[in-house]
Amino acid sequence: MSSDLYREQLLEHYHNPENFGVLDNADIDIEMDNPTCGDMIHLTAQLNDEGRIAKVMFEGQGCVISMASSSMFTEAVVGKTPEEIAAMGLSEIEAMMGGVRLSMGRVKCALLPLNAMKLGLKEAGKL
Ligand code: FES
Repeated sequence: MSSDLYREQLLEHYHNPENFGVLDNADIDIEMDNPTCGDMIHLTAQLNDEGRIAKVMFEGQGCVISMASSSMFTEAVVGKTPEEIAAMGLSEIEAMMGGVRLSMGRVKCALLPLNAMKLGLKEAGKL
């Protein structure tokens, strides 16, 4: 993807995020901030009968990268098991964001939703 298209896609998610809000009856309910900047995410998720992610919502405030990553993340992980999410890392997040290579400074921003989900799954006893 060209960098312009990539930028456009991120901005679109930033301005019109998918699944923005808080789920009732959430199995996962976690807040996490990026200590280097103070941006934060509140992630809620429900699991289905098979233990797979059924629905994810987020709210928070942060930079374009963290908010766009969070918006994309709420769609990308539906159907995954906790173990599949635990196995995800930076390369999966970069692929999710259109194949972008993130600079060192932006890695923490992009990983915020994934790290929050992993911690939330652990705290809920799902990992
Ligand atoms: Fe704070 Fe990106 S600058 S999460």
